Order: sequence, then C-alpha cells, then structure tokens
Amino acid sequence: MLAARAEEKLGFLARDIQASGGRALVIQTDVADRASVEEMVGRVVGEFGAVDVLVNNAGVGLSGRVAELRPDDLRYVFDVNLLGPLNCVQEALPHVPRGGRIINVSSVVGKRAIPKVGGYCATKFALNALSDALRVEVADAGISVTSVYPGTTRTSFRDNSRRTKSEKRGWRPKGVPPEKVAEKIAQAAEEGGRDVYVTATDRLFVFGTTLAPGLTDLVLRRFWAKD
Ligand SMILES: NC(=O)c1ccc[n+]([C@@H]2O[C@H](COP(=O)([O-])OP(=O)(O)OC[C@H]3O[C@@H](n4cnc5c(N)ncnc54)[C@H](OP(=O)(O)O)[C@@H]3O)[C@@H](O)[C@H]2O)c1
Repeated sequence: MLAARAEEKLGFLARDIQASGGRALVIQTDVADRASVEEMVGRVVGEFGAVDVLVNNAGVGLSGRVAELRPDDLRYVFDVNLLGPLNCVQEALPHVPRGGRIINVSSVVGKRAIPKVGGYCATKFALNALSDALRVEVADAGISVTSVYPGTTRTSFRDNSRRTKSEKRGWRPKGVPPEKVAEKIAQAAEEGGRDVYVTATDRLFVFGTTLAPGLTDLVLRRFWAKD
C-alpha cells in the first residue's frame, strides 16, 4: 500500500511495481491528519487483512537558525515527522501480527544535530525517542521496531524543505541514491534489526560525534555555522 499526498506520483510507482509482477495499491494520505491515516489503515486491513510491515518514511525538512525559527514552521514539521509516524503506529498497531515490523525513517542528524537545521533535527531526535520506547513496549508481542538513519540522499527533500528565510543553502555531501536507502529499508522489513545505517560514513559520523561532542562543536562552528 503506497500512501502519500500526491496520488498521481504514487500511481506511477504502483504501475512500475505491477509491471514487475508485484501488487501495489495507492491511497492518498496525509500522515499529519489522523482521520486520513485511519482511513488508510482501514483500507490496508480490508485489502490485506493485516499490517505486516509499516514503514514511516514521510518527512519534511526545515532550515533556519534556531534564533529565527518560526513556531508555525516548527509545529508543521513536528506534525508530519513526529505526529505522522505516531498516527500511523497507533492506527496500525492493533493490526500488526506477531513477527510484524515497524520501521521509522530517522536521519543521522537525529543522532547529532547540526547548525541551521536544528528544528528538523529535533523532530528526528523525538522520533528516535518514540522508536526506542515503542521497541521495548511491543517486544513481547513479537513486533520489531527499526530506526533507519540515512545521511544525505539524492531526493527532492531539499526542494521540499521549508525555509525560515531565504538563507543560503550551504554545502552538503553529494549523498547516496534513494535506491540505496530503499534497499536497507527492504532488508529491515525482512530481517528487522534495531538501528540501520545506510553507509559506513554515516555510521562513522554518528560514532565520532557521540564520542567527541565538543570537538564536533568546534568542527561544525568552523565549517558549517557560517553563512
Ligand atoms: N533526503 C535526505 O537527504 C534525507 C536524509 C536523511 C533522512 N531523510 C528522511 O527520509 C524520508 C524521505 O525523505 P526524502 O528524502 O524522500 O524527501 P522527499 O523527496 O521530499 O519525499 C518526502 C516524502 O514524504 C511524503 N510526505 C511529506 N509530507 C507528507 C504528509 N503530510 N503525509 C504523507 N506523506 C507526506 C512526500 O509525499 P507527498 O508530498 O506526496 O505527500 C514524499 O513521498 C524523510 O523522513 C526524511 O526526513 C532524508
């Protein structure tokens, strides 16, 4: 079941999946809208009988320095990036069988916040907290909860991000193609797992910044925080 707001784009993807022998259905969904999520889960259960795997991938970015963030923008990204997965988890959970999987797409910047995207990072830190609590809560029911931490990925993410003002878009790693992240998500759907990184560099970033937070501050101050 493919769920997002842009039904037409999902239709293209569904046709690709069907052409390669798979089964795909589309339902227009706004994850921030509880009624919309309830309808989506109802359709999934009606068509497939259960929710074997839930992938919470929907997310939006927000750029801007903390001092300048607008509360409405921050509320919007929390609505999509945190309340969205929460809505999906709460609606789906009664229909997730033993052996089922919940996969939440976080980010490496949900492990170490970086300047000029602090609001977005906060949504991913919050999502990790929900994932960690939920993982323990549903373990006895035989359901796994995986956090996926991609680094920069070549999607439309940056173009779709909210911006606080017309701040300059700083340097960004070239990133990986989305297929690479999708493969990791598909692997997590098969095998479960707790924390999933996409590249060794992402893993190293999180390991290094956790081990040396003060040094990370200095490096970010020198190379990232300037306009
Ligand atoms: N790209 C990166 O560098 C990067 C790095 C780390 C983590 N991530 C995370 O990866 C995930 C996917 O992002 P992406 O890179 O593929 O960005 P993207 O190209 O902007 O795609 C975002 C996806 O989220 C959907 N979405 C947004 N708001 C929604 C809503 N209210 N309800 C339902 N669906 C909604 C969009 O579909 P509609 O607009 O049609 O609703 C679209 O499918 C996000 O959680 C993002 O935070 C991205």
